[in-house]
Amino acid sequence: MKPKNQLIICMGSSCYSRGNRVNLELIKAWLSERNIEAEVEFKGQLCSNLCNKGPVIIINEHVYQDVQPANVINILKTALTGSRVNKTIHG
Ligand code: FES
Repeated sequence: MKPKNQLIICMGSSCYSRGNRVNLELIKAWLSERNIEAEVEFKGQLCSNLCNKGPVIIINEHVYQDVQPANVINILKTALTGSRVNKTIHG
């Protein structure tokens, strides 16, 4: 079955060094803790041409800019609310 959600993290050098290096690990851990990896297609992509607004993450075609490690989990929770994934999220 195709994952219901798509999560893309910009792995270009600017975003990577400005926060997505840490965000990548936080997102992987968050998906794993909730055992919802199969529900979310998670992949990286090269520069998204928004370097001055990075770190960039794209969830279900919505672009999130200036995503810092301190707020990446809140963004995931908010972005995935209302989806099937949400039923497995606690807190
Ligand atoms: S490196 Fe992420 S937008 Fe350019």
